Amino acid sequence: MAGPVDERDVNSRRAGESVVDETRNTALLSSATDASATTTALDEASTTAATTARRSAAHTAPTSSPTEVDKRKTVLITGCSYGGIGNALARKFHREGFRVFASARRLETLDNLAKEGIEVFVLDVTSDGSVQAVLEKVSARTGGRLDMLINNAGQPCVGPALDIDIDRMKRVMEVNLFGVIRMNSAFQHLLLASQGTIVHINSIVAYVPYVFGSAYNATKAALLAYTNTLRLELSPFGVQVMSIMTGGVSSRITEQPTNSLSREQLPADSIYRPYIDDIINARKHTGRTSMTPEEYADQVFPQITGRGRWYQLFRPGLLPAQIWGGSYSSLAHLSSLLPIEIYTGYMRRKFQMPKDVMIGRGSE
Ligand SMILES: NC(=O)c1ccc[n+]([C@@H]2O[C@H](COP(=O)([O-])OP(=O)(O)OC[C@H]3O[C@@H](n4cnc5c(N)ncnc54)[C@H](OP(=O)(O)O)[C@@H]3O)[C@@H](O)[C@H]2O)c1
Repeated sequence: MAGPVDERDVNSRRAGESVVDETRNTALLSSATDASATTTALDEASTTAATTARRSAAHTAPTSSPTEVDKRKTVLITGCSYGGIGNALARKFHREGFRVFASARRLETLDNLAKEGIEVFVLDVTSDGSVQAVLEKVSARTGGRLDMLINNAGQPCVGPALDIDIDRMKRVMEVNLFGVIRMNSAFQHLLLASQGTIVHINSIVAYVPYVFGSAYNATKAALLAYTNTLRLELSPFGVQVMSIMTGGVSSRITEQPTNSLSREQLPADSIYRPYIDDIINARKHTGRTSMTPEEYADQVFPQITGRGRWYQLFRPGLLPAQIWGGSYSSLAHLSSLLPIEIYTGYMRRKFQMPKDVMIGRGSE
């Protein structure tokens, strides 16, 4: 089981790999001094000599954090488990020269990132203690600054709107909305110090109703309302806030426990019992997508960091409030501009919903 000790080990290795050359050389010199001093001490079987050598090595080691000389832009990303969007974004930002702090609930899901030289942390966005611990570590490494926070961690929640298990939805809300709020509040001073950017990985379902997704869709719609207000409130302080309205991406989201749905899970009196199998089947087909997390990361990276918007002629640094990425996101963008009535019939057909059903009206 991965624990704090593992994390420290991985991160100290990462820090050694990710600092600029100057610091790297000092660190190498330091460890070389340490090794040779220890050997000498053993050879001479002299405790005093070993102690002196270690002290001398300690003096040679960099007294300042490697971060203080690291000029790369920094980005912290939540929910970076292997196979998901966060993991692909972490690698994309790392390749593009950012200093990436990648986090997830379990350290072992970040192994591929650690191997690439990315600094990794255990972080559960529903825990104040966990968020605080990462805040302290990131702050210590960056001198109290953060250029970008990407709130990506999220969980699905599936089931008919009339049959929502409120406790289940509350747990998902804890991640998809309150987790984001907790992160932003905790990291505000680091973001303010660098006039940074907050990015929320939202979903097209905040606009477009996806059948049996009302609980999840509601968390994302709430996130969108929060995001837009936060953007406004932070605008005087130079911190920008944006949503990525995400369409289909072939991540691990469908494997999450809260994504399960079957006839057995429905309440005995659910009105959807006769139709559930058809709808589940249609959902599977509709949700299938060929866009990989890596393709998604390539698609959104230039939009998060880039230029090219007409209003940037007048406000060069202004980032868009919303960008769209993933499969079906262009269609969803168009749908978001149209009255919802226009595509209700289309969605009913697409999800193989029953034709008009008159329950409780007898055979009139
Ligand atoms: N894939 C899509 O089609 C799609 C579409 C629209 C929006 N999105 C959004 O994109 C984001 C990333 O999802 P994904 O598709 O990459 O799914 P994913 O592969 O399941 O990744 C979700 C990540 O969130 C993490 N997470 C869950 N609960 C957490 C918590 N309490 N604290 C910290 N991390 C937590 C997961 O960690 P564990 O591995 O520990 O569970 C995982 O790393 C989510 O916000 C999702 O709503 C995805």
